Amino acid sequence: MSMTPQVPFPDGWFAVAFSSDLRPGRVRRSRIAGSEVVVYRTRSGLVRVTDPHCPHLGAHLGHGGRVEGERLVCPFHGFAFDADGTCVATGYGTRPPRTALRLRHSQEANGFVFVWQHHAGLPPQWELPCLSDNAYPDTAETSHCFRGHPDDPGENSVDLGHFAQVHRITGARPVHALTTDLHRAELTVRGRKTFGRHGLGAEISYRYWGLGFTAIDTHIPRLRIRGRVLNAVTVTSPGQLQMRTRISTALDSGRADSRRAPTNAPLWDRLLATVLTRAGQPQYLRDIRQDIRIWHHKSYLERPRLAEGDGPITAWRRWTRQFYPTT
Ligand code: FES
Ligand SMILES: [Fe+2]
Repeated sequence: MSMTPQVPFPDGWFAVAFSSDLRPGRVRRSRIAGSEVVVYRTRSGLVRVTDPHCPHLGAHLGHGGRVEGERLVCPFHGFAFDADGTCVATGYGTRPPRTALRLRHSQEANGFVFVWQHHAGLPPQWELPCLSDNAYPDTAETSHCFRGHPDDPGENSVDLGHFAQVHRITGARPVHALTTDLHRAELTVRGRKTFGRHGLGAEISYRYWGLGFTAIDTHIPRLRIRGRVLNAVTVTSPGQLQMRTRISTALDSGRADSRRAPTNAPLWDRLLATVLTRAGQPQYLRDIRQDIRIWHHKSYLERPRLAEGDGPITAWRRWTRQFYPTT
């Protein structure tokens, strides 16, 4: 059975870059929903995302386009575009034609640049949150491209049956059942994560904003560790996903509630958290790659044969349906 390339692109906010990819003046190419886009940051720090072709004679702005002040300048004839997309100059000093870049709705939040994607071209129907990360002293970033269904990365967290098999988390059970509210969904799971020969109790909270952004907060009370993983999943072309991940760790007083932000820590704790973020990365990458290996080769079954112990997969799929155009 093959993957399902006919799956329509989902609606919502999807990342096209890490913020850290875009120093002021930087121009980059990216892919979303089968199209290329050009992402750039003006000298004053504004991020813009545009369709890639210049409205003058069609040059690709991501191949040689440059930022001058607040303008994006085309490499072909030097036409310049303001931060609102308007063509404000030609390369010849003549009056510019009445035209503009096709800017996409974009939002920079939580270390990512997101673009609004909607099959019918509707403007943004909801916004992404800005999560406080003041207390996380260090963040590592990683990106993976693989084959998969747009639901796969999110469905993974409600798929409690694979926690023990793939991630060595035993006894996984929801302590806050899956709840959904419009484009939001949440779930908190408790289990024992095995490190070497030792098991440690962990509480993992998953918060979703559509299919493109997930915050995963892990609390391991015995070690006074809080970990935060931010996942931004983008469908780049049919059946192809890119997952950008930001990983942080902090120490705290060890109280319950995995979603509580850690308090600002003294210098020593912050240094230790930096070390932990670096040290924990290989472990986290191992977990992520184990999932990706399975997603990359699996088939998305519309009618899975579920069993007791599987987790709330049916409820999850009922929620994700809203992001796909109805045919
Ligand atoms: S194609 Fe861009 S300035 Fe001519
Ligand atoms: Fe997983």
